[in-house]
Amino acid sequence: MASSSTLDYSKPFSQLLKEATKDIHDTISKSEGAKALTSGTLERDEYVRYLIMLWYLYITLENALDAHANHPALAPTYNPSVLARAPLISADISSLLQTTAWASHPLHLSMHPLPKPLLDYIARIQAIAGSDDPTPLLAHSYLRYLGDLSGGQIIKRTILKAYQLQDHAVTSYDFPKPGGPAGEIADQGDILKLKNIFKERMDESIITPEAKRLVFEETKLAYRFNAQLLNLIRPPPVQINDTPAKGLAEVLAPPGPPLLGVGVGLFLVHTYLMYASRTNTSLGCNFLSLFGNRGLPISA
Ligand code: HEM
Repeated sequence: MASSSTLDYSKPFSQLLKEATKDIHDTISKSEGAKALTSGTLERDEYVRYLIMLWYLYITLENALDAHANHPALAPTYNPSVLARAPLISADISSLLQTTAWASHPLHLSMHPLPKPLLDYIARIQAIAGSDDPTPLLAHSYLRYLGDLSGGQIIKRTILKAYQLQDHAVTSYDFPKPGGPAGEIADQGDILKLKNIFKERMDESIITPEAKRLVFEETKLAYRFNAQLLNLIRPPPVQINDTPAKGLAEVLAPPGPPLLGVGVGLFLVHTYLMYASRTNTSLGCNFLSLFGNRGLPISA
């Protein structure tokens, strides 16, 4: 994988970034979690769990971007009316769970305490947002939004087919048509335009070698956080004839017993339920209060 000392800083930043992170991207996109998402073999509830994790991620990222909307490194790509994902993801979760009050749905409640890799990712974004220099937030918006505009479009087609959904239940990967009337969705050509616009603006805002290095390093870290999120997906049981793909966790972290993650999750949920029943605590999650004015759709 490229290191910041071998980067060609004379290249436009978007080109440099794409080339320097190609290997890590390609490894992630072949991980077990990514395969399950793009093959349509994931159980529906498992897909909803993943969407809920993404909601927590985006609400954190988008609050952070709002807070620094005028920062010179972030302002050019700040475009919530086109890019913001949290409201769309929330709407998809509502459609899939058939309730707008999904915060109190058992599937969501069973996810608390939230998995550590997700909490670590959120904590990283909040730490950058609270620091003197929020420039590295650009790495997180680049990774998520360009990812949604690229692989996300493949995932959308798979999900629509796999769960036999209507378009309105898979809006998380939709973007408005640039210059089109309200409500019109971008087609493939528009999606390419949106990607190019994001990249051009990134090239305008990240110019110095130091800024390039900073965002490049953060992008590598952000890829690792995303690999860990994908690793939280519980794929369907492997069929005898399947050839197991190399999971990213095997590449980035030492291997552990395969059931450990599930075991620890069950233990944590069990402990939380014991605690809640002893203290008569409601299963509503205080963590949600951290998310400010975009909060959860508690009721319709
Ligand atoms: C789930 C499996 C995935 C597939 C099938 C996939 C596929 C793709 C494809 C086809 C492209 C377009 C490459 C191009 O325009 O030249 C792309 C780009 C991209 N993907 Fe993925 N991807 C996956 C996972 C991810 C993940 C997990 C992330 C990170 C969150 C991600 C982030 C990106 C980014 C940032 C780009 C834009 C690269 C650039 O042009 O600068 N992808 N992906």
